[in-house]
Amino acid sequence: MRVAFIAAECEPWAKTGGLADVVDALARALGQVAGPTSGGPLAGPIDVFLPRYRSVPVPPAASTRRLRVPDPRASDGATDVGLVEAEANGYRLRLIDHPPAFDRDGLYGDADGDYPDNAWRFGLFCRAAVEALRSDPEPPDVLHLHDWHAVPVALLRDDQLRRDPAIGPAAVVLTAHNLAYHGWTPASDVPDLGLGAAALPPGADGLDLLAAGIEAAELVNTVSPGFAAEARTPAFGMGLDRWLGARGEAFFGILNGLDTDLWDPSADAALAAPYSRTERAGKVRCREALLAELGMDASDPAPVLAMIGRLDPQKGFDLLSEAAPRLLGLGFRLAVLGSGTADHVGPLRRLAAERGDRVAMVERFDRDLARRLYAGADGFLMPSRFEPCGTGQMIALRYGTPPIVRATGGLRDTVVDAPSHPRSGTGFWFEDASAEALVAACERFLEWYAPGTRRWERLLDRGMAVDFDWRTRSAPAYLDAYRRAIALRAGRRGAA
Ligand code: GLC
Repeated sequence: MRVAFIAAECEPWAKTGGLADVVDALARALGQVAGPTSGGPLAGPIDVFLPRYRSVPVPPAASTRRLRVPDPRASDGATDVGLVEAEANGYRLRLIDHPPAFDRDGLYGDADGDYPDNAWRFGLFCRAAVEALRSDPEPPDVLHLHDWHAVPVALLRDDQLRRDPAIGPAAVVLTAHNLAYHGWTPASDVPDLGLGAAALPPGADGLDLLAAGIEAAELVNTVSPGFAAEARTPAFGMGLDRWLGARGEAFFGILNGLDTDLWDPSADAALAAPYSRTERAGKVRCREALLAELGMDASDPAPVLAMIGRLDPQKGFDLLSEAAPRLLGLGFRLAVLGSGTADHVGPLRRLAAERGDRVAMVERFDRDLARRLYAGADGFLMPSRFEPCGTGQMIALRYGTPPIVRATGGLRDTVVDAPSHPRSGTGFWFEDASAEALVAACERFLEWYAPGTRRWERLLDRGMAVDFDWRTRSAPAYLDAYRRAIALRAGRRGAA
């Protein structure tokens, strides 16, 4: 079986969110559980196609060749594009290098918003990936598309390349990591995608790429069973609930895993001291070092709650902002690491300026500080409005920092509420997306918070023991999906 990922993000080269972690870790885990050296079904390493953004250095020992790629904006209808290839962390990284499209500050846009030519940029990325695959000695069996940026690959397969011997027979699996981003392309921009006239139904005012991908793919999945169920409802489907529902059993959830080698407190070079589930003394040193770094009193036992993520309404930073004064009133301290642009965190910023000894707000993307927060904080907040899976809560559990989460999507699937399940709980839930409910969950946390006591230490122990390793369940579930998709594709082709 040959599998190619098409994705707009991949750690450590290009990241704005969890998509990057998943693409990197899943590609590697598949190689480990199913690659040639394991005797598994994969014929070679997974291919990961990624745009070569400005942030992506060319890996040493990379090879480069040129591809001729159809380009609706080129005067002669085609452009030369670089294909940079390198073995990377257990998969083959295949960078699409075209400076006019990708040598820019941002991945998707800048402070003024999305780049106006994203249809052209990601259309070109997909066409270049397809040309690379067509030039390979062996055709792909599965095209694994991640989010809307990769969907043009499926539309090319079903229209212009239907009869192409390499692309036509390939099965498409689409993973929807986030239904909030559809890749809506107004009719005037659709020609830039380079998909031909059939891409736009007559009279339509544009193309919803994610919806088109949901229709075209043999199988569609999202990243937790809980969110897959929610996504079929109008409250969470973001306008796609009926499209998803119409796919019946071809739409389902596969819970993301965690790269347990990358996220391991006993081998994390960013931490002040290593620790593990059985040897937890180092976590106390991590807490002291973190508080010193943030300018907080390390001898003060008052619990520190951390929150990390994109400053996006999805993540609920506004709920924390609203709840913050009450949380300080309860004795908590707050440490927030946020990346991206935001206008809904003003109160939090002001509080950090006035009460620097109790509230730290760091507005940048900082991998190492994130690691120190997971390790050094006493509790970890994820008040997400919706969460297809979420990575932070899994890392926090593994780092012995109980998560306080809104009971939604993947958060509900990965965290067990301790107050209602005292013997199996690993964290704290709240139901409503409101500051009141968040504060109430933090009060329940406070009732439990007592380092050194049996009840508290067992809570940490259970969290650290959860097996989120990609290799255990998630990667095998994707292999099953690939097999199913290949059979479905063969059936469709046979019937046609
Ligand atoms: C998106 C989702 C997040 C998920 C991640 C990786 O960022 O919002 O819930 O964990 O993709 O699948």
